[in-house]
Amino acid sequence: MDAAGTLANPGLWDILISRVLPQLTAGALGSLRGTCTSLRDLLDNDVSAPVWAAAAPHLLPLPTPASLSLQQPQEQQRSQQQHAAATSSYTNHVTKRTKRVLATCNVLTGQQQKTMVDACGGAQGTEAGRQREDFEFEYGSSSLASKFTKPGNRRYWIGGAAVLALVLLGVSFVWAGREPSVQPRNLPKQVLVPIPTAQLNSGHRIPLLGWGSFTLQGDRCRDATESALRAGYRHIDTAVTYGNEAEVGAGMKPHLEAGRVSREDLFVTTKLWSNQHARDTVVPALQESLKKLGLAYVDLFLVHWPVTDQHGPTLEPPMQETWEGMQDAVDQGFTRSIGVSNFSPEKIDEWFSNARIYPAVNQIEIHPHWRNDRAIQFCKDKGIHVTAYAPLSSPGNMPHFPNDLQDPAVLQVADTTGKTPAQVLLRWGLQHGGSVIPKSSSPTHQEENLGAVGWELSQDDFEAISNITTQLRYFEGSGWAYTHEGPWHNYEELWNEPMSPDQK
Ligand SMILES: NC(=O)c1ccc[n+]([C@@H]2O[C@H](COP(=O)([O-])OP(=O)(O)OC[C@H]3O[C@@H](n4cnc5c(N)ncnc54)[C@H](OP(=O)(O)O)[C@@H]3O)[C@@H](O)[C@H]2O)c1
Repeated sequence: MDAAGTLANPGLWDILISRVLPQLTAGALGSLRGTCTSLRDLLDNDVSAPVWAAAAPHLLPLPTPASLSLQQPQEQQRSQQQHAAATSSYTNHVTKRTKRVLATCNVLTGQQQKTMVDACGGAQGTEAGRQREDFEFEYGSSSLASKFTKPGNRRYWIGGAAVLALVLLGVSFVWAGREPSVQPRNLPKQVLVPIPTAQLNSGHRIPLLGWGSFTLQGDRCRDATESALRAGYRHIDTAVTYGNEAEVGAGMKPHLEAGRVSREDLFVTTKLWSNQHARDTVVPALQESLKKLGLAYVDLFLVHWPVTDQHGPTLEPPMQETWEGMQDAVDQGFTRSIGVSNFSPEKIDEWFSNARIYPAVNQIEIHPHWRNDRAIQFCKDKGIHVTAYAPLSSPGNMPHFPNDLQDPAVLQVADTTGKTPAQVLLRWGLQHGGSVIPKSSSPTHQEENLGAVGWELSQDDFEAISNITTQLRYFEGSGWAYTHEGPWHNYEELWNEPMSPDQK
């Protein structure tokens, strides 16, 4: 390095911060030996011996070539011995006071340094001698690394340990302040299995394993949404009637803002409630939902039930009118796909056969105690994707119905496959229909449920669960579909099928 370049060098502390620490944190943290090497490299590159010599000429009674030639041989030898002793003493000084020497460096001119370099040129003034002198100025009679191994030379160890401690402190600060990652550590292995997707008739793709938010409210809903995305869910189901769109939005927000999840990776579903079926209220209703969700569009907008708040002999407003509003929502970019929920095959056929945009999804109740085979087959034939709600049989909401998580057939399969009952049920749902959207407020359950992907039930195990004979529709819709005025006076009219024998 030339003198001018050397003079432009930063101070040792700056060098430590800007070069040594990044080297260490980038992976060379491994050993103290590595630290020594870094320091040595640093010194080699940035602090050349001639400059140190130039920095403190008063410490070296250096003979110049001219003065040497005037001396007798004995005097020359004595001069050289003095030079060697002074060099050794100076090396110690440099090691102790590098910082001060460097500061002094900056006030010397290039010519002064060159003079001192020539003066330090060794007994013979040769290049080899100069290089040896340089080396000794920098490291003494042995390498810096070797000083670590010298008995009693503890300052190197202390210095190295101090640098290491500083690095560890810095790393721990960075670690403590980091944002939690979307894929947390120590998750079960299955979380790393990608969630498969299916293509809808709209051309968009739906993740087959989603997360439902029904009954979750307030901070609990926000936290559960946040942890669901952190666990790896990308398909989120909500509805205006759940009263939690704002909280679902609040749970998604930190992931979206921090860029841990991109909007494109999310699949968000919300639903139109029964009092918003007039064509000109559909888009405003969705806009209101979007405002609460904090999104510019949803991926799927569903007509929640084939009912309205107006009772009478016919459905008012007519579904065709409502569907016009749904199509408007697609045209205006507020939703990518539209579909229905709790719609029978007959109603879909009657209302949508000539629709400009055919329903992409029918979200219906499906679990081993309500296989819903007829609706699934119809949708399959028509190219409508089926999403299974209550895939765990909704034990929290339906405590008086059989709990599939405790069904003997499910427990038996869980035993033979080594999976949990929830994983078996969700796996069954995936193999039986389309997608599943289990709700869970618990991060542990959320993670467990992700274990439904990446494996398959054998045909025997699948059939053992499919053969559960008792069949009961848990979500009858009786609360808003059974009216004296109509249009649906009873179960058969709403679902276009007789109640199952187990239901009566
Ligand atoms: N379109 C519609 O009309 C309609 C109707 C109903 C539901 N849905 C949608 O479908 C979603 C799912 O249905 P759902 O919530 O009724 O029922 P579900 O998903 O079948 O069951 C949820 C219940 O199972 C528990 N659970 C979850 N994972 C578990 C596990 N690994 N082990 C043990 N228990 C577990 C939950 O408790 P924790 O919270 O304690 O985990 C909760 O009590 C809803 O959230 C909603 O988004 C739509």
